[in-house]
Amino acid sequence: MEIVTFISGKGGVGKSTLTCNVAVGLSARGKRVLVIDLDPQNIQRLHLGMDPEEIAGLAREGINDDAVFDSPFGVRFIPFGRLQDGELVEFEQQLRLHPDWVKNGIANLDPGAYDFVLIDTPPGATTYLQQALHAAHRALVVLLADAASFATVARILALVATHTRNNEAFIEQHIVLNQMPLRSKLSHQVRKSLIEHYGSMVVPVSVRRDPGVPQALAFERPVLQYEPTCPASQAIQALADWLIDSSEAS
Ligand SMILES: Nc1ncnc2c1ncn2[C@@H]1O[C@H](COP(=O)(O)OP(=O)(O)O)[C@@H](O)[C@H]1O
Ligand SMILES: [Mg+2]
Repeated sequence: MEIVTFISGKGGVGKSTLTCNVAVGLSARGKRVLVIDLDPQNIQRLHLGMDPEEIAGLAREGINDDAVFDSPFGVRFIPFGRLQDGELVEFEQQLRLHPDWVKNGIANLDPGAYDFVLIDTPPGATTYLQQALHAAHRALVVLLADAASFATVARILALVATHTRNNEAFIEQHIVLNQMPLRSKLSHQVRKSLIEHYGSMVVPVSVRRDPGVPQALAFERPVLQYEPTCPASQAIQALADWLIDSSEAS
């Protein structure tokens, strides 16, 4: 089983979109996948077609086999769950006291049940990022191809280094570009500079900006299912395939 976390310095880059769609792409290749929504925004439930009234999730039930939901899209998931403000403060305090809470929760899942566990996180240096990096084997830093994103890379990579220092199972971190405009010299320049600075850390697949992506979310389904042949879906399937190859190579 490989644990992969999607992280970023900035919000709105596409972590949640990529987490759920890469999960669907892995599942299309016969992999058994669990998505864990470690973001209090609790948004994976929209991507994965869950009843909007449902309040259950890891913040209430913990990470265990009983907290797992089946999505209609071939992947299973544990939503964050819905908490009141006061409950959230208390939950985050617990996480700070137990920085391996997520790691231990995953370790207690049915050991033969999943090939991949994908963890979605909120942006920035949060207690959730720390939890995810303590548990992960691989981290995908999601970036937009613009100057502001470029400026956040060094900081997020430093955070990965800090939080994986004692994680002996951690393999590698990677940078993946999302929402690449079709014809933009600037974004291609950013990609080129990233490759110059970070070499093979930059994933060979970038995902185009594609109107199918927000449309799919409006219909509460993954774009890979909503519009499987659009450019974003094809790139995300290629990203899932790259992940399978990387996992088999390590
Ligand atoms: N490749 C893409 N093309 C077009 N829109 C995208 C793409 N990826 C993400 N988006 C849109 O960007 C917004 C933020 O995406 P989201 O996955 O929620 O980001 P994050 O989880 O990093 O905050 C959403 O409205 C989503 O539909
Ligand atoms: Mg998100």
